[in-house]
Amino acid sequence: MRVSDAAALHAVWGDAEAMRYWDWPPLKSVEVTRDVIARQCDEAKHGDAFYWSMCLDGRRAPIGACDLSDIDTHHRRAEIGYLLAREFWGHGYAIEALRVVIGYATNALKLERLSARTHTGNARSTALLKKLGFKHEGTLRAYVWREGTRRDCDIYGLLLPRSIEDAPRATRPRKAKRINR
Ligand SMILES: CC(C)(COP(=O)(O)OP(=O)(O)OC[C@H]1O[C@@H](n2cnc3c(N)ncnc32)[C@H](O)[C@@H]1OP(=O)(O)O)[C@@H](O)C(=O)NCCC(=O)NCCS
Repeated sequence: MRVSDAAALHAVWGDAEAMRYWDWPPLKSVEVTRDVIARQCDEAKHGDAFYWSMCLDGRRAPIGACDLSDIDTHHRRAEIGYLLAREFWGHGYAIEALRVVIGYATNALKLERLSARTHTGNARSTALLKKLGFKHEGTLRAYVWREGTRRDCDIYGLLLPRSIEDAPRATRPRKAKRINR
């Protein structure tokens, strides 16, 4: 993800429907989106998280974003996140992108567990996680405060194999922490 993606990504982070089940309300302006991306790029520089823009083949303008955050190299686990512009829902793009992210987490980062947290009722996100093999592990009651209301969240987990044969073997970025086995 790059700061120059801000205008395209604001079309997603600024969309009330796409942000319906997000921890925060839609972002108010491209400038706010740019600040968020700048912070995420900074976090990524330290290897604590990875943020990617999702693009269609041959087109630079992102249609969404996905990430690995809370990377814990000792416990070999991280949290996965994703969102896609509404006009691109229903084409299988999120599942395609997340399979690559899962392959990267397994093969390059050597992680052994991924988790995802969805707001209860986010049916599209839940369906996506189940298709990827995530299992429901529990409900965090009233976990999120959003615009005056507390919301429950569901936790999903995926145990990763030692390697995934058909996943693209992504190059380890220079700043990523090495795990000694
Ligand atoms: C969650 C989100 C990424 C899911 O997007 P999505 O497009 O439904 O997800 P998938 O990539 O799994 O696509 C599945 C759909 O593509 C269809 N599809 C078409 N071609 C496909 C293919 N080759 N492979 C797989 N699915 C395909 C499926 O039939 C399914 O359609 P349906 O929902 O009408 O049955 C999207 O709804 C979103 O961005 N939501 C807002 C942000 C959000 O809530 N993020 C989650 C926070 S935890």
